[in-house]
Amino acid sequence: MGAIDGRGAPGSSNPSPTAGGRAVVHVVGARPNFIKAAPVIRALARRGIDQRLVHTGQHYDDRLSAVFFRDLALPEPDLNLGVGSGSHAVQTAALLVALERAFTELAPRLVVVYGDVNSSLAAALVAAKLHVPVAHVEAGLRSFDDTMPEEVNRRVTDLLSDLLFVTSPEGLTNLDRSGVPADRMHFVGNPMIDTLLANLDRFDATPVRSALGLPADFAVATLHRPSNVDDPARAGQTVAMLGGLAALVPVVLPLHPRGRSVLRAAGLDEIALDGRLHVVEPLGYLDFVSLMRGSRLVLTDSGGIQEETTILGVPCLTLRPNTERPITLTHGTNRLVEPAEVLPLARRILAGEVPRPSDPPPLWDGQAGERIAEIIDGWLRARI
Ligand code: UD1
Ligand code: UDP
Repeated sequence: MGAIDGRGAPGSSNPSPTAGGRAVVHVVGARPNFIKAAPVIRALARRGIDQRLVHTGQHYDDRLSAVFFRDLALPEPDLNLGVGSGSHAVQTAALLVALERAFTELAPRLVVVYGDVNSSLAAALVAAKLHVPVAHVEAGLRSFDDTMPEEVNRRVTDLLSDLLFVTSPEGLTNLDRSGVPADRMHFVGNPMIDTLLANLDRFDATPVRSALGLPADFAVATLHRPSNVDDPARAGQTVAMLGGLAALVPVVLPLHPRGRSVLRAAGLDEIALDGRLHVVEPLGYLDFVSLMRGSRLVLTDSGGIQEETTILGVPCLTLRPNTERPITLTHGTNRLVEPAEVLPLARRILAGEVPRPSDPPPLWDGQAGERIAEIIDGWLRARI
């Protein structure tokens, strides 16, 4: 994208990123952002709209970042701000400083942010203070659980945004209740599902299954929410539950770095010793979705995975008391569970009692990126 070449190593920058300034600037930083941004960037490119891509560096491991650029053929970032990890205050402060510098240099016409991560909140805040309009992709989601850092990010980002792209109808209601004017909201469908549908024929569980030594019947688990992995007592309960699940069906757990130390301290590696729990590095997008597609069930606390299993038709047990994506409960295969419910429900799913989803959620049809691009295009033209 832009004039940039190179993978965008942390702290790197395009020698002349302002060339062609007044571009649409996308800000991405964490794993799910890359997957949501891909179809939007592609659809804007088809319309010939000048774009720049800023990677904040919130996620920096190859397995959480660069692998998605390779799998999804995303353009190289024009800037990588290299902000890295830290407490919320430390990370957000670093993001604010670095993004202010980047936007001052790039002079965007519009800043596009994705989802609910700290990078998105910071980009919206900096843009608003610089009087740069903000577009929020995946606006209007609410868990109504203020203990989730993402809920704070969602609320603030929505209130600062000029264009709010909504993935499911309840998002419109949530935004209305937050006082967002109706003319800012656009119900466009789900760009994460665009990426899923665009890659359907690339998902094949066989190679990754054989690389991991998994039999035909297996389950996939991912856990990274602070509420599940930060507290040692809760992590102990989670590890015991994973051991119980692995006794029913072999489980592959691509372990997010957030939970690594606490889950290991709670005995994860000992549970894995009998070979039925496969603890592996986070997987690339194609390998991971391939595995999900071939699995008997998914246990997760991820936001995006609740949506992907809905479309794949794979039973999903979400280890959370609430979800900002209730449409996956009504239109999908998702079910919210307490740790104690996992084993009885897994037994029933493995015995063949699988949820039969109705129609997919409205507009989860692979065209969300195109709808977003059309609206942004019209919005830009109206301002020339
Ligand atoms: C972030 C998002 C969360 C999202 C998740 C996607 C916020 C507040 N949270 O959570 O909403 O669901 O990304 O995966 O924005 N780390 C590494 N390597 C990396 C990145 C992080 O080892 O490349 C480790 C660091 O120890 C870091 C920890 O993971 O402190 C957490 O990273 P951070 O980006 O702060 O939050 P996530 O838990 O990844
Ligand atoms: N994902 C992946 N590899 C993994 C785990 C997840 O590619 O090992 C993908 C998953 O398919 C989904 C996205 O990452 O597209 C979800 O990201 P995550 O769970 O980190 O964040 P959340 O959606 O909870 O914000």
